[in-house]
Amino acid sequence: MTDSQFPVFRTVAEMHAWRCQQTGSVGFVPTMGALHEGHRFLIERSVAENDHTVLSIFVNPTQFNDPADLEKYPRTEEADLEIAQLAGVSAAFIPTGETMYPDNYLYEVQEKAVSKFLCGPFRQGHFAGVLTVVLKLFHIITPTRAYFGEKDFQQLKLIEGMVRAFFLPVEIVPCPTVREFDGLAMSSRNRRLTFEQREQAAWIPKVLRASSDPRTARAELERMGYKVDYVEDIWNRRFAAVYAGDVRLIDNVEI
Ligand code: PAF
Repeated sequence: MTDSQFPVFRTVAEMHAWRCQQTGSVGFVPTMGALHEGHRFLIERSVAENDHTVLSIFVNPTQFNDPADLEKYPRTEEADLEIAQLAGVSAAFIPTGETMYPDNYLYEVQEKAVSKFLCGPFRQGHFAGVLTVVLKLFHIITPTRAYFGEKDFQQLKLIEGMVRAFFLPVEIVPCPTVREFDGLAMSSRNRRLTFEQREQAAWIPKVLRASSDPRTARAELERMGYKVDYVEDIWNRRFAAVYAGDVRLIDNVEI
């Protein structure tokens, strides 16, 4: 427990004990912390649609293919709990790596189709790490509904697929991407951008929307100085992953 007005659990046993006492629906917002407006939107939606809302904060090591990226991932627990408090969270689950991986990651969830394109080839093991940790969190929290942003659209599709494949009794609620005033998709990584990188990044969604096809969009992003992993059209959306310095940004827009 911490000073916050809602309980903060760090072990599976504590989380379970609380969950067993709840009646009514439980909404769940899984995060890696460094909460921003996009997370607040997910939490508020869950609070509006459920009797209770659980927030998890866990910087999941198994989904980072680059150790430097894991190292630099922002960790802001105190500020996160304040945002959670204001947004109306009922309980938070903040486990350690040992708590989440008592098996030392001997077991993982592998998907064989959707994880093979877009971010898949560029982030080996990333989606296995995401699916594995989300499955564990679903088992620990047993939510009625779980809320995921469409900014991570490929992740959302994979989680929806996992829920169908394993008959998981949870409703996945997709939520639209929340954007900054200038159109940049909100992301915990944005706070690692320099002032200039941040200003220029607002062009990413604009270029994706304005270009006639992915090749033109890619060429324009490269002309602006981005290292581009991919620009691809699928699911009636245009997806891109680019590097601003060493910060990897992803976005997708409807086309
Ligand atoms: O989208 C995220 O923040 C993470 O991938 C998630 C779903 C919390 C799993 O670690």
